[in-house]
Amino acid sequence: MDYKDKILQLKKDKNALILAHFYQIPEIQDIADFVGDSLGLAQKAAEAKSDIIVFAGVHFMAETAKMLNPNIPVLLPDLEAGCSLADSCPLDKFREFKKKYPDHIVISYINTTAAIKTETDIVCTSGNAVQIVESFPKDQKIIFAPDKNLGGYINRITGRNMVLWDGTCEVHDILSTEAIFKLKEENTDAKLIAHPECNAAVLEIADYIGSTTNMLKFTQSDKSKKFIVATETGILHQMQKNSPDKQFLVVPSDETCSCNDCPYMKLNTMEKLYFCLKNEKPAITLDADIIEKAKLPIEKMLDISKIMKLI
Ligand code: 13P
Ligand code: SF4
Repeated sequence: MDYKDKILQLKKDKNALILAHFYQIPEIQDIADFVGDSLGLAQKAAEAKSDIIVFAGVHFMAETAKMLNPNIPVLLPDLEAGCSLADSCPLDKFREFKKKYPDHIVISYINTTAAIKTETDIVCTSGNAVQIVESFPKDQKIIFAPDKNLGGYINRITGRNMVLWDGTCEVHDILSTEAIFKLKEENTDAKLIAHPECNAAVLEIADYIGSTTNMLKFTQSDKSKKFIVATETGILHQMQKNSPDKQFLVVPSDETCSCNDCPYMKLNTMEKLYFCLKNEKPAITLDADIIEKAKLPIEKMLDISKIMKLI
């Protein structure tokens, strides 16, 4: 069945806004009102005036949208669409960890549950992490959670010594330098662009490191014609669309498979999106007291990002 026209009709009838992350399948990206990274999507959700938000992304993103705009129903086509980073940081363990560093503030990557955000001073995304960290004095003691790759990257480029929670993204962490070197040998004219969730060895050899939006912008402005892309494959759709004359190569995860599709992002399908909009479920539900506490560090992040003109 062709769901495209049906979804577009329902979207119009119900005055719904479809927000999609760059890692969604191309068909979903093409029917969305806005496609972006976590930062851009959070901002769009906060500003939404529609009657419904359909979030084609993962759970923490839809949860963030709900906190920023609690009066609008926020639908997620598949509630199982989680995130290995968010899962790596359970509330009870994180509270124990925090107790060991009583004089530290907490900066959390947006890839966390609402519960972790209630334990956070300020949230960041890959699009503003360096600037958020640098908005604190050099001697400020900081816990950074949950991505040790992103946190380690920020420590290296800012000369800080943030305490890192030991979490990783299962998709980015396994991208290997061996596979990249092989691709580089075969494509000596290609530039390597990487998401900061990649491991330190990959980041060390990257020509450019940035959020999905920033990687996309880089491929448009840089004069190279070929890019090795170290992130989830969904972003290639926009890269190719925006730069049809350029070539984009995916980094295989290992010798045998190209498994850098995020299994959670890819749970969303056109069929699930259609039924979710038709039945107006599944919807994100959150207790009012959680929303009240957890939205504060997200709003702080959005305010700083606006002042710094990052959004
Ligand atoms: P971006 O905010 O850069 O799009 O990253 C989100 C994410 O989940 C990356 O794995
Ligand atoms: Fe989470 Fe990694 Fe998937 Fe991003 S790519 S949603 S960090 S599991």
